[in-house]
Amino acid sequence: ISTRLIVDRDFTVSNLDRRIFGSFVEHMGRCVYTGIYEPGHPTADGQGFRRDVMALSRELGVSIVRYPGGNFLSGYNWEDGVGPKDQRPRRLDLAWFSTETNQFGTNEFLDWCRAVGTEPMISVNLGTRGPDEARHFLEYCNHPTGTRLSDLRREHGYEKPHDIKFWCLGNEMDGPWQIGQKTADEYGRIAKETAKLMRMVDPRVQLAACGSSTHDMPTFGSWEDTVLGHCFDEVDFISLHTYFENPHDSTAEFLGNIEQTELFIREVAAVADSVAARKHSTKRIMLSVDEWNVWYKARSIDHRRKPGWPEAPRLVEEVYNQEDALAVGGALIVMMNNADRVKTACLAQLANVIGPIMTEPGGAAWRQTIFHPFAQASRYARGRVLRPIIHSPAYQAKTFPEIAYLCASVVHDDETGQTAIFALNRHLSDTQEISIELRGLGDQQRLVDASELHHADMKASNTKAAPDNVAPQPNANVQIDGHRVTARLRPGSWNVIVTR
Ligand code: AHR
Repeated sequence: ISTRLIVDRDFTVSNLDRRIFGSFVEHMGRCVYTGIYEPGHPTADGQGFRRDVMALSRELGVSIVRYPGGNFLSGYNWEDGVGPKDQRPRRLDLAWFSTETNQFGTNEFLDWCRAVGTEPMISVNLGTRGPDEARHFLEYCNHPTGTRLSDLRREHGYEKPHDIKFWCLGNEMDGPWQIGQKTADEYGRIAKETAKLMRMVDPRVQLAACGSSTHDMPTFGSWEDTVLGHCFDEVDFISLHTYFENPHDSTAEFLGNIEQTELFIREVAAVADSVAARKHSTKRIMLSVDEWNVWYKARSIDHRRKPGWPEAPRLVEEVYNQEDALAVGGALIVMMNNADRVKTACLAQLANVIGPIMTEPGGAAWRQTIFHPFAQASRYARGRVLRPIIHSPAYQAKTFPEIAYLCASVVHDDETGQTAIFALNRHLSDTQEISIELRGLGDQQRLVDASELHHADMKASNTKAAPDNVAPQPNANVQIDGHRVTARLRPGSWNVIVTR
């Protein structure tokens, strides 16, 4: 099939907020324990952080990391995770029916973020707790000195305030599974009061309210409307969570999830803007897609309660394949193309639990298939997102009525003059002959990099024994003539082309 992609230097969607390349570390399964933290591991540093996982996290290019949950958050006492480790309590974690040892807590997480070179996104518990604990937690973290809690932090070895900017107000508060589930009115009121107090402690924080847990929730839309009706003036962001599934084992249908994500983003923005309209406000609420990924293979089997309240059990250790990598690449394209509203996003989670990084306790760490499109997008997508004009034949699937075979995003960096093109060929049997016009970006473009992520078997995955089975390869089928790029995109492939 033939497709065309046209961009013009003057037609910008928005500057890209690098925080869309975020991830998520929850106290769930083996994400923390034997994931990022494993004292005694051959690569562990003095604090017990696995250096192999830190190196992979840097390579993945995670710009911001959400912590400590997730459903875990809604029963968490932040005080349990700070101070001398031998005095920290062991607790029942009611979200995942595990025992939480609290050997890793907020300060360790912030040290880990510094070591990796990423920003923290911290969440406050609005399930079992409320505004009072949230303001105390913020005071502990961000207040310089001279109060009981800021001095406690200093006693714990952290002289300087942590200066955490981004805070989430609870997690999935509409979900019946959530510890301390709330109605939209209950949550909207608590989010407002919590936000008010947190801003009094530190006016520089950015705050995100919980949106619906999924697009499928029966209250989707009205939840956002009611919640923002209460806390519109106090918050900056509303969250979106989305996990792609493949119930009919159909790749074509599965890749339609990408379109659904675009719709989801636009719908949430529309609801937020309708609240703004009612309030006669020019303020725009931004979107934080603070949990997203593919998650269905390990959902039913691994989700069940394990007997005996185990520590760090193996939970939802989804093994990703080629088609999952395509879906993740497509979701990144959609988020980039909506960069005017999506300012933060977190691939859930970072290690082992639906993670791009897998580890064995005491053993190796490796890259899952979904690692690759994420790492490449984070590496190359810098600057302004240009509005893509796409001419492509389309197909129809249960997930969406019109799915263009070509799904693409273009990001241009005015400082370096570099242009990054990300393109998914959703045709599963035909090569795509793509013609790309880069208007106004320089008449003599040169190729900086061209690669493809392709595998003949959509179910191919990476394992400990074959960690590079699915990995990007150079694409020799890319030509440039002035400002025109032509390329051959193999069936079912994720492609990156970088020019200058
Ligand atoms: O990321 C796994 C879980 O999915 C999170 O704890 C929860 O917020 C969501 O339902």
